[in-house]
Amino acid sequence: GITRHYKFDIKLQNVTRLCHTKSIVTVNGQFPGPHIVAREGDHLLIKVVNHVQNNISIHWHGIRQLQTGWADGPAYVTQCPIQTSQSYVYNFTIVGQRGTLFWHAHISWLRATVYGPLIILPKRGVPYPFAKPYEEVPIIFGEWWNVDPESVISQALQTGGGPNVSDAFTINGLPGPLYNCSAKDTFKLKVKPGKTYLLRLINAALNDELFFSIANHSLTVVEADAVYVKPFETNTLLVTPGQTTNVGTFDNSTVAGILEYESPLHSAASIRNLPLFKPSLPPLNDTSFATNFTNKLRSLASAQFPANVPQKVDRHLFFTIGLGTSPCQQNQTCQGPNGTMFAASINNVSFVQSTTALLQAHFFGQSNGVYTPDFPITPIFRFNYTNNPPNNTMVSNGTKLVVLPFNTSVELVMQDTSILGAESHPLHLHGFNFFVDPSKFNLVDPIERNTVGVPSGGWVAIRFQADNPGVWFMHCHLEIHTSWGLKMAWVVLDGKLPNQKLLPPPADLPKC
Ligand code: C2O
Repeated sequence: GITRHYKFDIKLQNVTRLCHTKSIVTVNGQFPGPHIVAREGDHLLIKVVNHVQNNISIHWHGIRQLQTGWADGPAYVTQCPIQTSQSYVYNFTIVGQRGTLFWHAHISWLRATVYGPLIILPKRGVPYPFAKPYEEVPIIFGEWWNVDPESVISQALQTGGGPNVSDAFTINGLPGPLYNCSAKDTFKLKVKPGKTYLLRLINAALNDELFFSIANHSLTVVEADAVYVKPFETNTLLVTPGQTTNVGTFDNSTVAGILEYESPLHSAASIRNLPLFKPSLPPLNDTSFATNFTNKLRSLASAQFPANVPQKVDRHLFFTIGLGTSPCQQNQTCQGPNGTMFAASINNVSFVQSTTALLQAHFFGQSNGVYTPDFPITPIFRFNYTNNPPNNTMVSNGTKLVVLPFNTSVELVMQDTSILGAESHPLHLHGFNFFVDPSKFNLVDPIERNTVGVPSGGWVAIRFQADNPGVWFMHCHLEIHTSWGLKMAWVVLDGKLPNQKLLPPPADLPKC
C-alpha cells in the first residue's frame, strides 16, 4: 500500500437548507465532509486541525485499527479531544478490509454535521467479486437542523422527545423536493440505460434506521460494513442494520432524490416531462420487513474472502439493554446522565464518560479512579418474553469495563428489554467485526458487521475474536441513547508477540 495524506480543517461554514442559513461545524467548509478514498493496505495520515470553539475528535467508523487504538477517535475513550487551535494526526493502516465505511465526529452531537464517506477500494489489480460497475456513487444519508443541533438535542435529552428531532433527512446533504423550500436542493443521479451502478449507501443519521428504494428498479446487495456478502436482490434496503425500526408518526421522515436516465433519444426538455415514478417504502414500524431483510445477509465466505468465524467460545456474556426512567420517577433528583430523567443502560449500568481517555489510563497503568474492570457480565433481570419486561429502575452509574485477555473468543447475547416504546438499538462495536448468529447459530457464513440491530423485545447473538489490544467502545449508534448512557467499553490486553501489542501513543496525542 501507499501513504495517503489528508488535511481536515475543522471550521465554521454558513450553509443554507430549507431557507434557513446557519453556521455549522464542518471539515474544510464542506457539508457533508470530504470523501476519503484509499485502497486496502494503504497507510492514512489525516491531520485534523481545530479552528472552532468546540472540542473535536474524529472516528473512522468500522476501521479495525489493529494495534493503533490511538487513532480510533471516540472522545474520552481512546483520546482526549482536540482543543481549539490544536491538531492531531490520525495515523493508521487499512488491514484486510475493503468496501464502504464512513467517518464522523465522535464527541457530543457534532456528528450531526461532521461526517463523510470513507471508501476502501480493493488492492490494485484485485477485482470485485461481482461485475465491474460502470460507475460508483457514494450516497450518504444525514440530517438537517434549522437551529443548532446541540440545543435541540439537549432539549430532547431532557424530555425524551421523539427519535427524529431534526427538520429533514438528507441525501448527500440535500433534503430534496418533499420538504418546503428545498426543491433546488435535490440529489440527482444521472445514469445511462443498461449500465450497472455501485451505490455506496451510508446511514450517517443520528437517530434513525432508514429504508432505501429506487422506483421500478431492483437492487442487488453485494457488501455490508466493508465485508462482501452473497449477492441477493431486493427492492428495498434497510440501511442501518436492524430488525425493527423506530415507531411514531413523523411528517419529516422521508427524503427523496431523483434518478434520471441520460438518453440520446430524449432532449433535456422532454425528459423533464416524463413521469416521475415514486417507490413505496415499508411503514416505519415494519418489523417483519427488517427481520426478513437482515436474515438474507450472508458473508460471501469464499476462498479469497473467508469468514473466520470463531468456532469455539472462551467467554459467554449476556447483556440486557434497557431504556428507563431513573429513580427521579419517585420524585427524587434525576439520576440519568447529566441529571436527565431518562437513563439507558447495559446490565443496569448507565455508562459515565470519564474526564480523561480510558486508553491512556490503561496503557500507562493509571486506571485507578478512571474506570473499574467490573462490568457485570450477566444481567440482574432476565426477560423470558412472557411476563412484563423488567422495569429498568435499578440503574447504577459507573465507568465499568470488561477486561479480556488477548485473543479471547467472545460470544455475546444482547437482549432488549426496553420499556419506553419499541425501538431497536443498532449496537456498534469499535475495533472489531463480529459475526451475527441469528437464531440458528450459523458458523459457516454468518454476516460479519461492526453494527447490529438488537430488536425491541428480542435478542441477537454475536461472536468476535478479541485479537486487537486496546480499549474499545461499544454503544448504541442512536445518539440520544448513547447520551443517556447506553454504552460500555472493553479492554483487550496485549498478547505475547510484538504484533499482538498496542503500539505506543503518538507524540501529538491530545491532552485533556
Ligand atoms: Cu460510528 Cu462510536 O461510532
